[in-house]
Amino acid sequence: MKNILCIGAGYVGGPTMAMIAKKCPEYTITVVDINEDRIQKWQSDTLPIYEPDLKPIVEETLNKNLFFSTDVSGNISKADIIFVSVNTPTKTFGIGAGKAADLQYWEKTARQILTHSNSNKIVVEKSTLPVRTAEAMERILNSHDKGVHFEVLSNPEFLAEGTAIRDLMNPDRVLIGGHNSKSGQEAVSELVKIYAHWVSPEKILTTNLWSSELSKLVANAFLSQRISSINAISALCEATEADVEEVSKAIGTDSRIGSKFLNASIGFGGSCFQKDILNMVYLCEYYGLSEVANYWEQVVFMNNYQKQRFVTRMIKSMFNTVVDKKIVILGFAFKANTGDTRESPAIDICKQLLEERASLTISDPKAVKNAKKDLEQFIDQIEFELDPYTAATNAHALAILTEWEEYKSLDYKKIFDTMIKPAFIFDGRNILDHQKLFDIGYNVYAVGKPELSHL
Ligand code: NAD
Ligand code: UGA
Repeated sequence: MKNILCIGAGYVGGPTMAMIAKKCPEYTITVVDINEDRIQKWQSDTLPIYEPDLKPIVEETLNKNLFFSTDVSGNISKADIIFVSVNTPTKTFGIGAGKAADLQYWEKTARQILTHSNSNKIVVEKSTLPVRTAEAMERILNSHDKGVHFEVLSNPEFLAEGTAIRDLMNPDRVLIGGHNSKSGQEAVSELVKIYAHWVSPEKILTTNLWSSELSKLVANAFLSQRISSINAISALCEATEADVEEVSKAIGTDSRIGSKFLNASIGFGGSCFQKDILNMVYLCEYYGLSEVANYWEQVVFMNNYQKQRFVTRMIKSMFNTVVDKKIVILGFAFKANTGDTRESPAIDICKQLLEERASLTISDPKAVKNAKKDLEQFIDQIEFELDPYTAATNAHALAILTEWEEYKSLDYKKIFDTMIKPAFIFDGRNILDHQKLFDIGYNVYAVGKPELSHL
């Protein structure tokens, strides 16, 4: 079992397969996609995604044991193990619209695998899927009389964008779910063998299929719940002059709570948290568990409230109007170290400001191209400027929406001198020295902190 295929060359498929190729030189790995442009970019100098430390790994393995191709069917027939890493977005139509997972790409892949397979295969769910999807996959794959055996495994991915290589290199755990049957356990062993090249055995967890599928949704639900919890507290801090960073530190030192994922912000973004929590909410509703569904849906409501609250505070502090005011958006990506803007809180915040008729200048080291697409319908009201200093000239306000490291060390005095007064700064990520900014002359508003205003 030495030929690996991955269907889907996105943020998960590309980096994950590059890591397997690096760590397992005796395997041949091919990544296929229907998107020709993406496949071409994976083989070029400019990779289709920005991810720190990814490029050297691709360069090291490309055309040695890592290959990219658009030939989906030809590569299916050659493969022993097929990872499926296609997108599983929220459904936008029909039953379950706005909550359920859209499994059309997933199902098309299953049918393609069936059509082009003439030998036994292990099919690995890498995408995040509703619990019991493997059952549907098996039904499709076994709806034939080809004499071919398909064994379906679940192996969800836990990498985060911006730290994908670090997460893949040194994962907290690798999760593999399979059937308890003999063939199921043999397939699990094949997959364990791959990860065992670099992951220690105690970190490779094997479970039944449904626990594995569900654990992925639950992990994202718990992580996003922590962010909504601290963001809810940030609202209470602003009302009471408590400081959310101090509260976060005070509670995070309790080892039962832990300190990670307690940064108050403008809300979580990214292609998965909202989608996966809504997917889980939909599943709960499907199984008649409305109390459980309502409980988890609050995490998303709180996230939307946080974005809207940030904009309301901006408008209120700027004398209740931002019409024709130049507001500079520093950071548009959903987090630092990525150019990805999927579900970025910056999208909603910018849209609300544009609806209030502000004029925006957007700056981001990696995400401007995506920002242009996300705000296409408002393009006349927006300028894009890579250099923060040029962007800030004659601005009424700065809003930090992504925690890029370089924003911490800008010369804020130099920027202040070129801005219209009174000058405002809204730190949506709590990354700046607020007292220093106040001393320069800014009116400073940070999430979950008392305002520092000269007015
Ligand atoms: P993506 O959109 O970046 O990539 C998916 C790719 O699949 C696309 O390039 C698309 O063209 C391709 N594709 C769709 N249908 C295809 C088909 N029939 N044949 C060949 N290619 C096809 O998505 P992603 O961010 O890589 O996420 C993939 C899955 O992994 C999702 O289920 C997601 O929830 C999950 N996940 C994502 C992350 C992340 O950080 N992005 C982390 C963990 C898990
Ligand atoms: C998240 C999970 O962390 C991964 O484990 C998971 O594999 C992935 O989703 C997925 O399934 O797609 P990702 O969305 O890439 O990874 O990035 P995170 O670091 O989790 O950040 C998500 C959002 O939460 C970002 O907008 C970030 O700014 C925000 N965040 C994070 C906060 O607002 N506060 C925090 O304390 C942490």
